[in-house]
Amino acid sequence: MCTYHIIVRQNTGFLCYNRTMNNDTQKNIIACLGDSITYGHGVSATRTKDAWTFVLQKMLGDRAEVLNFGINGASASEGCPESYRRTGLLDRALSSGAGTFILMLGSNDTKDRIWNAQGYKMGLRGIISDILRLQRDGSDLPKLFLMLPPAMFALEDGQTAYGVRADLLVNEVIPIINRLAQDYCLPVIDLYSVTKDHPEYYLEGVHPNAAGNLAIAKAVRAATEDWLKTTSEKTMTDYKTLISSVKAVTSECPNLISNLANVSALIWEYMDDLNWAGFYLMENGKLVLGPFQGKVACTEIEIGSGVCGTAVATGKTQLVPNVHEFSGHIACDSASNSEIVIPLRKNGEIFGVLDIDSPTLERFTEEDKDHLEELVRILQTTLFG
Ligand code: SME
Repeated sequence: MCTYHIIVRQNTGFLCYNRTMNNDTQKNIIACLGDSITYGHGVSATRTKDAWTFVLQKMLGDRAEVLNFGINGASASEGCPESYRRTGLLDRALSSGAGTFILMLGSNDTKDRIWNAQGYKMGLRGIISDILRLQRDGSDLPKLFLMLPPAMFALEDGQTAYGVRADLLVNEVIPIINRLAQDYCLPVIDLYSVTKDHPEYYLEGVHPNAAGNLAIAKAVRAATEDWLKTTSEKTMTDYKTLISSVKAVTSECPNLISNLANVSALIWEYMDDLNWAGFYLMENGKLVLGPFQGKVACTEIEIGSGVCGTAVATGKTQLVPNVHEFSGHIACDSASNSEIVIPLRKNGEIFGVLDIDSPTLERFTEEDKDHLEELVRILQTTLFG
C-alpha cells in the first residue's frame, strides 16, 4: 500500500486530500500544467465538462486521473508577477504523484509587457528540469510532453485579445519549445497545427471554446496513445479463463436465473472498467430486467428502444463507443459512457440480451465483441441445448 497526496483543482481553489491505494490498482496520474487555455477559460461556465483536461479524463475513464494545474494569465518567464512558478502550482503538480506531465506555457509570454526571448527560454527550461528531476528521485520514470500552444486569431478590429501576439507565438515561442524538446528528447504535442485553420474553435481568437477544447483533448489523447496502450494492455480481459469459468459454472446448475446471475458475476469479476453487467429477458413482448451486477436499473425496455431494444429489433450486437451519441440511449446509470449489448437466443428466437456498460468512452473493441458473442453462444448451448 502507498499513501500520497493528490491535489484536485476546483473552481474555487484547491482541495488537498490523502489518498491510499493498493499498488496493484494505483492509477496513472496525468498533471496538466499551463495557463488559462489549460484552465479552461474559454469554457468557464461549463469548465468541468468542456475544458480539454476534463474531456481527456472522460476519454480515459478509469485508466487515468487527469489533474488540471492551469491558471489564468500564467507565463513561463519568471521575471514578472504572472510567473507560473510564483503561483505555487508547479510545486503542487510536482508533489501530486503524477507520472505523466503535459506542459504548455507561452501564449501569455508573447504580451509586449512580458516578452523576453531569453527569459521565456530560461523559465521553460527551469520548469522542464524540475519535472525531469523527479526521474532521479522516484523509481518510475515521469513522462513529460511539451505542447505547442494553439494558434491565435485577431478580432474584427485587427487586434488580438489580451494583447497576445501571434507573430511572436509562431516566430519565437514555437521554435523555442521545439528546440527545448530536441535538447531534452521530449515528445511534442502540436496544438498549433490542430487549431491554425479553425478560427471557429475560439471564444475570442485566443481561448478555445468547447469545440476547440474537444479537438485539443483528441490531439492529446492521440499523442499519448503509446502510453495508453501500455496501460490498456494491463486491462485486457482474460477471455479464455472467463469463458471456461462460464462453462464450468453453468454446466453444473439447471436453474436459469442462478446461471445468469453467476455469469453476470463472472463478467463483473473478469472484465475491468465496468459499471453494469447483466441480462434483460423477453417477457410479454418487452425486455424485463434480469440478473445483473451494478446499480439499480430500469426494469422494462420496449423493443426498438435504447441500445438493448435496438439489439432485439435488429437481432444484432450493438457496440456503442459513446452512448451520448446513440439516439434513444436509456441512461440507467449516468456514469455509463460506452456499452455493448449482445442478443441471447433460444431455438433461434431472441430470449433476451447481455448488456455491459462502462464509464470509459470506447471501452469495448471489436475483439471484445467477438469474445462476448462466443461467450453468449456457449451460454445458449449450456442453457438451452
Ligand atoms: N443503456 C441501456 C439500458 C439498460 S442499462 O444500461 C442497464 C439501453 O439504452 O438500452
